[in-house]
Amino acid sequence: MSLQKVTARDIIEKKKKGEKIVTITSYDYSFAKIVDESEIDLILVGDSLSMVMLGYSNTLSVTMDEMIHHTKAVSRGVSNALIVGDMPFLSYKIDNLEAVKNAGRFIQEGGAEAVKVEGGTEIIPTIKAMIDADIQVMGHIGLTPQAIYQFGGFLVQGKTIEAAKKLILDAKNLEEAGVFSIVLESIPWQIAKLITNSVNVPTIGIGAGPYCDGQILVIHDMLGIFTDIKPKFLKYFGNIGEAIRSALNDYKDEVINGIYPDREHSYEFQQQELNKLNKWVENVDICEEAHKLL
Ligand code: KIV
Repeated sequence: MSLQKVTARDIIEKKKKGEKIVTITSYDYSFAKIVDESEIDLILVGDSLSMVMLGYSNTLSVTMDEMIHHTKAVSRGVSNALIVGDMPFLSYKIDNLEAVKNAGRFIQEGGAEAVKVEGGTEIIPTIKAMIDADIQVMGHIGLTPQAIYQFGGFLVQGKTIEAAKKLILDAKNLEEAGVFSIVLESIPWQIAKLITNSVNVPTIGIGAGPYCDGQILVIHDMLGIFTDIKPKFLKYFGNIGEAIRSALNDYKDEVINGIYPDREHSYEFQQQELNKLNKWVENVDICEEAHKLL
């Protein structure tokens, strides 16, 4: 069945209809293709690729060029889901012109249909500049991992009345600026519920409880492939890391014991031609023949 590509407008409509929005990250062609076949609404090419794909200890290291490289790979595998490119550290906070240019690269070069930025009221002018340039923007508040040094680590946010108020007001300002959805990361579920009820655009939770309009997880986390960090909210929906380990052990055993490859997995040379070839090998000096090619 061929589906229409999901649009930012469809994502907003889902909230109006009370339908849950299912989203996930992807970073390469093969994973993105499987995700898309599963009819997931939205794929985020998250800057979490800095950690789960590139092995850095946080999301600050990934560059614009690396993000574009992975977004291109994802977009080659996707025909249905809305693709959102995650703007990396410093790519949108220096000035608005650079922010719009970098956002535009996700669309023009990467094949994404929207971008995501981390931050609240303080980045509203930047978000407006992007939207004025016809770029769809997803917001992200709560634990914004690009600010971990400011937070002092990957810590739950919105735990005081003041902090919770700020999140509610930030969400309202993001909505008014024109974002089509807002990621709420690592905040108490009651605060996520309050925010979800205060805005008309969908909230997409990660570590924000069950009352958000949709959910997102990092695909390598939920499949048990990336296990360096296990936050409280993370549920393993598969143990693909273990399945990979087991497949590699089988492969190693079969190669060592001469089981793989067998005839079934080998190419055949015609017997008659092989007889001629064997005769040639017996009768020539291979070294001499090889040197003739030099
Ligand atoms: O980079 C990422 O994967 C994200 C999601 C966790 C929302 O920002």
